[in-house]
Amino acid sequence: MPNDNLVVIAAMARKGGSGKTTLSRALISAAVAAGRRVLLIDTDSTGVLGTWHKRAEAAGLGSPLLRSASVESVGAVDRRIEQVYAADSADFIFIDTAGVGAEWSDGIAVLADHIVTPVMLSTSDPRCRRADRRVVRKAPRPRR
Ligand SMILES: Nc1ncnc2c1ncn2[C@@H]1O[C@H](COP(=O)(O)OP(=O)(O)OP(=O)(O)O)[C@@H](O)[C@H]1O
Ligand SMILES: [Mg+2]
Repeated sequence: MPNDNLVVIAAMARKGGSGKTTLSRALISAAVAAGRRVLLIDTDSTGVLGTWHKRAEAAGLGSPLLRSASVESVGAVDRRIEQVYAADSADFIFIDTAGVGAEWSDGIAVLADHIVTPVMLSTSDPRCRRADRRVVRKAPRPRR
């Protein structure tokens, strides 16, 4: 049975080093601690989030509720979401993105149900996020 309650959350910000991966780690940890099944998709070529998961597993700190996937394109992310939806293999998909405002990231925005963005206490952060919001508002709505 497909999982109609599947929630896809992408961490996005056009500003690099603003806390996307840190926020993703916190949300993923909270979801797993709450007993929810999570698929982590790291779309940043630096692979920081995927490496975090691998290191946790190697240290015996992994969870059967958490799996990770590396992907090579927006199309591959789309296909992975469809697979998880059809097989009901997760409750949440968290997608970490690179902070470059690339076409790649815009494609991810279209696939996500929710976009989360870290905001720190500086005047430049809210200003950058207003620009992010304008981009996201122009994007087509998710298919599901
Ligand atoms: N809330 C926070 N308070 C203090 N430091 C933070 C906070 N969130 C993130 N950091 C620190 O800021 C740095 C950048 O964080 P992070 O790697 O999460 O950003 P990012 O947006 O994913 O970066 P990139 O664009 O390179 O992917 C890290 O050293 C992280 O520890
Ligand atoms: Mg990052």
